[in-house]
Amino acid sequence: MIRISLSRATITVVLLAASGALAVPQPLSNQKINRRIDALLRRMTLQEKIGQLVQYNGDAAGAATQAKEARVGSFLNATGAEKVNELQRAALQSRLKIPLIFGYDVIHGYRTIFPVPLGGAASFDPQLLEQSERVAAKEATAAGVKWTFAPMVDIAHDPRWGRIVEGAGEDPYLGSLIAAARVRGFQGTNLADPQSLVACAKHFVGYGAAEGGRDYNSAEIPDDTLREIYLPPFHSAVEAGVGTLMSAFEDLNDVPTSANYRTLTQILRKEWRFDGFVVSDYDSVHELVPHGIAADDAQAAQKALAAGVDMDMADGVYEKWLPQLVKSGKVPMSVLDEAVRRVLRIKFRAGLFEHPFYTDAARERRDILTPENRQVARRLAEESLVLLKNDNNLLPLSRSGKKIAVIGPLADDQANQLGSWVGRGQATDVITPLQGIESKLPQGSVLHARGVDISSLEAQEISGATGAAPAPTGATGAAAAARETGPATIEHAVQVAQQADVVVMFLGEPGGMSGEASSRAFLDLPGKQEQLLEAVAATGKPVVLVLESGRPLDIRWAAGHVPAIIQAWYPGTEAGNAIADVLFGYAAPSGRLPVSWPRSVGQIPVYYNHKNTGRPTSKDRWHTGYLDESKEPLFPFGYGLSYTTFAYSNLSVTPKVAPHGVLRVRFTVQNTGQAIATDVVQLYIHERVGPTSPRVRELKGIARVTLRPSESKTVVFDETAEMLATYDPRMKRMVPTGTYDVWIAPNAAAEGVAGSFQVVPK
Ligand code: NOJ
Repeated sequence: MIRISLSRATITVVLLAASGALAVPQPLSNQKINRRIDALLRRMTLQEKIGQLVQYNGDAAGAATQAKEARVGSFLNATGAEKVNELQRAALQSRLKIPLIFGYDVIHGYRTIFPVPLGGAASFDPQLLEQSERVAAKEATAAGVKWTFAPMVDIAHDPRWGRIVEGAGEDPYLGSLIAAARVRGFQGTNLADPQSLVACAKHFVGYGAAEGGRDYNSAEIPDDTLREIYLPPFHSAVEAGVGTLMSAFEDLNDVPTSANYRTLTQILRKEWRFDGFVVSDYDSVHELVPHGIAADDAQAAQKALAAGVDMDMADGVYEKWLPQLVKSGKVPMSVLDEAVRRVLRIKFRAGLFEHPFYTDAARERRDILTPENRQVARRLAEESLVLLKNDNNLLPLSRSGKKIAVIGPLADDQANQLGSWVGRGQATDVITPLQGIESKLPQGSVLHARGVDISSLEAQEISGATGAAPAPTGATGAAAAARETGPATIEHAVQVAQQADVVVMFLGEPGGMSGEASSRAFLDLPGKQEQLLEAVAATGKPVVLVLESGRPLDIRWAAGHVPAIIQAWYPGTEAGNAIADVLFGYAAPSGRLPVSWPRSVGQIPVYYNHKNTGRPTSKDRWHTGYLDESKEPLFPFGYGLSYTTFAYSNLSVTPKVAPHGVLRVRFTVQNTGQAIATDVVQLYIHERVGPTSPRVRELKGIARVTLRPSESKTVVFDETAEMLATYDPRMKRMVPTGTYDVWIAPNAAAEGVAGSFQVVPK
């Protein structure tokens, strides 16, 4: 029996064994830290205090001098043990010897690159994500980085928004589990451990709700939606002990998030009791001026600090303007002191005063890109693959006797397996899909053609309207050049396909097409890839399409004509091995969609946990929907096939529960097919009648269950009824009494097995 207790305290923590070589300092008590901060604050000059709130690029000229003169508290983008230690030595020559904290975007790995975060989320496996972040922390700290600007926990409903790739998708429950797991992985149990990385939950808050999916755009989020959808992953990160948060770029309900007192102080500090610090996003303090809520940088500094932004990233506004704002009394010294206190608190917790040098060149060489680290990346990549379609069990492919044509621009491309935000990941470390496939098969059985070139597409997409010359992306690695056996033309690809028994195609977006400033108005396969796909499919050979992208794409044609489709996101350094393991059945696919997959752009936003309308069915035109498109997504949230089938039965649910009681949901899951495989069982609920309109379904539990053919297991979810809490029209948090539906289902749109229960007054 598998027992899943959802109270946070009982979640099992899987940590990699720490290498015995490193001494782990004891964490200092809060009391001791406060005393030491008091003592420091008494001695600090105004200039030294402001310095702690300033973050600059560490690779800029003059960085060491800034550090020596205590004009800076943190650097970003300085990496490498020697470089970091040199800057730290400079800081320790300053009058009060306050150490620096080095920040960097370690988004899905430092050198060993894991699947992009949206792909990682598709694993529905918080424990493995925690382990992957432990690896990322170990590598990043070995290279001198002590603070990562991750996890990004922004909920997103719009795949046009390029940064959907950086988050955990559309669901607040899954997003909260993953936020906490990533924070625990980065930070470990002791921030002062040389292998622990201070985490930063970003972008606080509502950045993912950018109108029209246009990056940096304003967000309008009603209060209850903010509380129920966008805030929970941040709250979960705070409860997991996250050291820092990053404010965002966007305007939220008329107040830019980097000057938003309500979110930064009332909710974060007063309600949630967060005692770490908040860093602005890059330039976002200055950007209060173009936002139109500050007349100039001086006012921007005043507003951001007063709202609760403690550290100013990169734009120099705090450094320039705070001295006179404090001297003139416009910024009270107590407000400045509080911000400095928060920054120092995290530096003490991170052990920087006791151990400012937590790495050296030898550790950096030893801890990075180890076979063990790659192994974790391979497992997560494998778990992130989502099987969307598999007509007549075309997959898994046979390992012998067949000729396979591997076709497409991404098949043997190293750089683009990494996706966006690649840290110090190197294209040359990457196993390409072609290499992975070749490693599984006898020599001579694999043919290859690129078909079309997409190396310049990203730039064309961006500059296309103006006709500017595409920037070089350097996307194709050495392996691609060495292996290319013919021209990158559709005709050649068709000829190659004709010689094979089965074709595996690797199509999608170049890695840089999603991520920051990478919103798209169209979600079709970029360039001539759709033509390539149609031409190859017209040969009549069975085609497996492996899609690599940072967002759902419009694949209506493929879904109607191609027998097998795998969504692979960007799998990272171990891409080829993971993909080949799944293609040939060494592992059964177990990823599930963390976002609803729209049929077409016109449906966006489409997400599963919407509210009902008064006309919810699709019976005729007088009901919610479109004249020319279904309102249902192509694939629902939580969807993903396996190489076997699963059946659910014997559902039993506590019939009546008090608002503070425990609800037990128990059921059996059986493997009813032929392959050993892992299912992701999903628990959904629905409140039949509520004080405010209920959502049609809400995810409230997940479990990965591995079963041999015919094997069955009993799964028990013990949920506190608190998880049913919602807000009444006056924004009072409450657990509504009444009847609830419950489903154990394979995805958000499937019936699965259904039951009900009642919440009764105690
Ligand atoms: C801007 C991005 O929005 C943020 O996510 C990132 O951490 C910073 N730049 C620093 O690179």
